[in-house]
Amino acid sequence: MLKIKPVVISGREVLPIVEGGKGIGVTSGVTSGAFAAAGAVGTFSGVNADSMDENGNLVDYVYKGATRKERHEELIDLSIKGALYQAKTAYEISGGKGRIHMNILWEMGGAERVLHGVLEKAKGMINGVTCGAGMPYRIAEIAEHYKVYYYPIVSSMRAFRALWKRAYHKMSNFLGAVVYEDPWLAGGHNGLSNSEDPAKPEDPFPRVSELRRFMNEVGLSHIPIIMAGGVWALKDWENWLDNPEIGPIAFQFGTRPILTKESPVSDEWKKKLLTLKNGDVYLNRFSPTGFYSSAVENDFIRELQGREERQIPYLIEPHGELVVPFPVGPRKRPVYVTAEDKEKAEFWLAKGFDEAMKTPDSTLIFVTKDKSEQIRFDQIDCMGCLSACRFSNWSTNENFSTGKKTDPRSYCIQKTLQKVVHGNDVENQLMFSGHNAYKFSEDPFYANGFIPTVQQLVDRIMTGE
Ligand SMILES: Cc1cc2nc3c(=O)[nH]c(=O)nc-3n(C[C@H](O)[C@H](O)[C@H](O)COP(=O)(O)O)c2cc1C
Ligand code: SF4
Repeated sequence: MLKIKPVVISGREVLPIVEGGKGIGVTSGVTSGAFAAAGAVGTFSGVNADSMDENGNLVDYVYKGATRKERHEELIDLSIKGALYQAKTAYEISGGKGRIHMNILWEMGGAERVLHGVLEKAKGMINGVTCGAGMPYRIAEIAEHYKVYYYPIVSSMRAFRALWKRAYHKMSNFLGAVVYEDPWLAGGHNGLSNSEDPAKPEDPFPRVSELRRFMNEVGLSHIPIIMAGGVWALKDWENWLDNPEIGPIAFQFGTRPILTKESPVSDEWKKKLLTLKNGDVYLNRFSPTGFYSSAVENDFIRELQGREERQIPYLIEPHGELVVPFPVGPRKRPVYVTAEDKEKAEFWLAKGFDEAMKTPDSTLIFVTKDKSEQIRFDQIDCMGCLSACRFSNWSTNENFSTGKKTDPRSYCIQKTLQKVVHGNDVENQLMFSGHNAYKFSEDPFYANGFIPTVQQLVDRIMTGE
């Protein structure tokens, strides 16, 4: 029998099980409320969260602003309303049990404004804030102000050390736990640093014990670590339990809770999860945030791979081997490519990939006319959901621009994540997933397409399976 001990999270003893927050809307008030009601920690996503009208119908994010700055303001307003709606729902469903956290992406546009807007009005309903993607230095200050716990998500001891030394050591009263997210296995965005090889996954144990050693050194031995990424059955983590090298520990589940009755994703998404094989989920670099991310291979990912493959370098003036003129754009102005690349380009043109688009790395990619129109339309339609977007060059700085060229090798994450969670097209939209998703088809718990409730999933996890 496994000794799975309760742990103190956000000021209360709870089961050491945390629902990993998932945007956009994949974790909600309903899912997080159910985790809390089961005595665990639920995490709704505060990233462009949905709200409902008085009749219980989804309020569509319809933007009236003519500029992306105006639409960005609308997005922030809608996000605050949505997150408040989800917090209230979670609180009601929880019945006062467990803990409720809100997840935000530090690199989302207006993250701090959304946090202030929500925490100001959600007193007593939100116990903690988890913060992924980026370096959330200022979260400590905001959390302290509203007296909620904060949970930075890091993928190495070094990242936490930097946060601690620069900011958190001054305000550690509300540090709830440190979430270690395995950058090779977790679903969603992955915090791989330049020194880590995406093709060489590292054992989380030495990395987490290194984090614990640092935490012990700075007086945080009592603060739990939450292990996220690649956690399926706790029996596989037996040597992490009651181990002084790891200290107080809880486990975060991102992918498993997508397949529950409460999960708002479509039946198609749930069915797809039940059929995945090992290798169907892998790291890619297409996200407009610039981070690595992990998603299910589908037509959406294959199309992005195609753009990457149908790519050649070019120069504005002939130089070296790039001396063969190649006409580009409506005015057919020539750029210069190698003779070999010109042949490749002509082959793609003949196959119908007849629009050449320039990238910020002085390359051309080849796409169909429809695709190029969609790319341009999505770039123009931008509503500034990120702090800096490589796809549209939107930025929340004073110029509202990264100053770089737009990058057609990426995509509008806002659009596709809204579509995948509200629709049923699991082939042509982005479906983030953890690398362990293939275990759905191997784990007898899910035999014959069984989909548990959150309570059943929590009970199952507590058996160690
Ligand atoms: C569909 C999906 C969306 C996610 N979105 C977010 C997010 O918005 N913010 C975040 O911090 N983590 C996000 N994650 C990561 C999870 O919270 C969790 O840490 C991770 O999935 C754990 O790994 P696992 O999938 O192996 O369980 C997402 C994961 C998935 C699968
Ligand atoms: S283009 Fe980029 S910043 Fe604009 S809405 Fe889409 S993902 Fe967000």
